[in-house]
Amino acid sequence: MIQRLKKWLVGYQSAPGTDDEKWIPRLQEGPIPKHVAIIMDGNGRWAKKRGMPRVAGHRAGMKSVRNVTRAADDLGEIEALTLYSFSTENWKRPKDEVNFLMSLPEEFIRTDLDELVERNIQVRMLGNKEGLPAHTLEAIGKFEEATADNTGMILNFAMNYGSRFEIIEATRRIIDEVKSGKLDRDDVDENVFNEFLLTATLPEPDLMIRTSGEVRISNFMLWQLAYSELWFTDVHWPDFGREKFFEAIQDFQRRSRRYGAV
Ligand code: FPP
Repeated sequence: MIQRLKKWLVGYQSAPGTDDEKWIPRLQEGPIPKHVAIIMDGNGRWAKKRGMPRVAGHRAGMKSVRNVTRAADDLGEIEALTLYSFSTENWKRPKDEVNFLMSLPEEFIRTDLDELVERNIQVRMLGNKEGLPAHTLEAIGKFEEATADNTGMILNFAMNYGSRFEIIEATRRIIDEVKSGKLDRDDVDENVFNEFLLTATLPEPDLMIRTSGEVRISNFMLWQLAYSELWFTDVHWPDFGREKFFEAIQDFQRRSRRYGAV
């Protein structure tokens, strides 16, 4: 009974605002991206337009994190959803804003952990743990621990993530392995390089979404996005929800992926 009630609650929470019967069965007939990566942009502009402080935009953006996670999970077949939450360049922002962003994982635990566990979602972090405040790391650790045995979709928060840093780190580790004789220089190919990246256990993103009208990659998964389909929208992240996510998937399904062939 409790299980049924919980199931109903999860279903109920995910429904508002979208005609699921229209979207989900139709999308499930086509190819579903295994990995969707999102640059969640426009929180500040969303807040400014409403005369609110920037952090209000980030708080509103949390709702979109929830809605898009639910949508991706409800669609099924998506193995990983990666959300660019804090870049290595974001440290340049005002201290108050950085502090606020660093408190979001703790807030997300309070508001969303139960549902993520219920949905069998595994939460991971992608990025450099060094440099993150202890309370942020503690919250991330709690998420990782509480969801480690979950076998469903991976929800991957890119925090303190920078792709150039990731590539340099991978290169350094490869050099160490070659120097110590564990790896032959001539065996270093794309597959081997991939194993040294933070995304080693994830499929490459099939689809990368960026909100808020900017058309650039901003040091996000430079290696991994080599053959991804890119989808841009003018909608600011706090206004990006279930319907827009499904629109992006629909557009992905219309693309012809040739990987350099004809
Ligand atoms: C970019 O908008 C957004 C961010 C730098 C942060 C996004 C983070 C979240 C939505 C929450 C993540 C949740 C967890 C649990 C870690 P911007 O501030 O650059 O917007 P602007 O370009 O309009 O100024």
